[in-house]
Amino acid sequence: MFPECALTGPFSTVYSGMSTGCSLWGNWNMHALFQMGTWPWFGASESLEESMFTPEPLHPRQLPHGRTEMTEPPEGDESSNRSLPFYHLPVLLQEVLEALAPSPGKLIFDGTLGGGGHSEAILQHGASVVAMDQDTEALTYAKARLAGYGTRFCALKGNFRAFSRVLREANVGGLDGMLIDIGVSSRHLDAAERGFSFAKDGPLDMRMDRDRPLTAADIVNTWSQEEIARILYENAEEPQSRRIARAICQDRTHKPFRSTSQLADMIARVCPKHGKKHPATLTFQALRCEVNSELPALRDFLADAPQWLKPGGRLVVISFHSIEDRIVKQAFQQYAAPFIDRPEWPAPKPNPKYCLNLITKKPLEASEAELQMNPRARSARLRAAERLP
Ligand SMILES: C[S@@+](CC[C@H](N)C(=O)[O-])C[C@H]1O[C@@H](n2cnc3c(N)ncnc32)[C@H](O)[C@@H]1O
Repeated sequence: MFPECALTGPFSTVYSGMSTGCSLWGNWNMHALFQMGTWPWFGASESLEESMFTPEPLHPRQLPHGRTEMTEPPEGDESSNRSLPFYHLPVLLQEVLEALAPSPGKLIFDGTLGGGGHSEAILQHGASVVAMDQDTEALTYAKARLAGYGTRFCALKGNFRAFSRVLREANVGGLDGMLIDIGVSSRHLDAAERGFSFAKDGPLDMRMDRDRPLTAADIVNTWSQEEIARILYENAEEPQSRRIARAICQDRTHKPFRSTSQLADMIARVCPKHGKKHPATLTFQALRCEVNSELPALRDFLADAPQWLKPGGRLVVISFHSIEDRIVKQAFQQYAAPFIDRPEWPAPKPNPKYCLNLITKKPLEASEAELQMNPRARSARLRAAERLP
């Protein structure tokens, strides 16, 4: 439906209509434009949209866990499409806005568009947003939601690990801010058919990008016991990785794993519950990480991100588990150290990667008030840094 961030063909005819005041956008081309929020009814996404999101007669206010409250739209607020159902509640929204400081004339990259909550808040502050998501469903939803922002908003399908190529092809020259809010959306967890949640019975899928071939079922049914144990440990630090991998490989000889419940029930049988967490929590996290190459994508993004920031531009990363946060912390530290030292060197040397100033020495977490409203923000950790002049 959408080629992965393929950008082809001339754009100049349509550009004259853009009013961002941002010359960086001058060479967006035609194909890119058709993937933008300004054209939300493009091609196959139209039928997807119709089948998924039946407009409600009233206007639902988004609440966590799929709950909606039917209200009149706020007076004078025309920009957001409020006839859409709940998708995702953006976490640490105030903290994101403080860190990115969006304002008219700024261009912000949102690498994890999701339901468009963060992007919308940025747009409401007058900045322009170029966004990506690897999930077609998320793009369709967010484009419909943000259509009213016209040419200030542009969304492309693709993995943020490839953002450099995408932005280069689109002739974007520099960014005032970059945000990634990694992991899955509430929509992913709530939609049983996506297979992300052990609490809902569905196919063992877990792909954010359904154009990619590898599913969680492929991993548990075909990978070796050693490989399964390795990913359970490396992706989620599952202390029972070997026991679970052995049980998976024994069980699948009788009956291949097809559903989330089948896998979750089997894990609950071999690993009795300790504490509040379901015993399958870490296995599901590890499988999801592997299916979507989440840790390599994060490393690739962090390797390229700082060079895209203008002086004073801000980089904001929200992660949801300790392995991710460690990767972010280490990358930020690498960029924020003016000197590097090694025992074998007589004196420290200037760090060639030095380009960021840390804004958050420690990661920010959701306030009690936010947690009351959105318990899914519990494990969110935000780190922010600023590009040096
Ligand atoms: C936590 S949600 C983001 C929610 C969003 N900030 C909002 O306010 O609605 C994460 C989104 O990022 C997408 N995603 C995760 N990893 C990605 C990657 N490597 N490249 C592109 N999109 C990714 C997922 O498909 C999902 O829609």
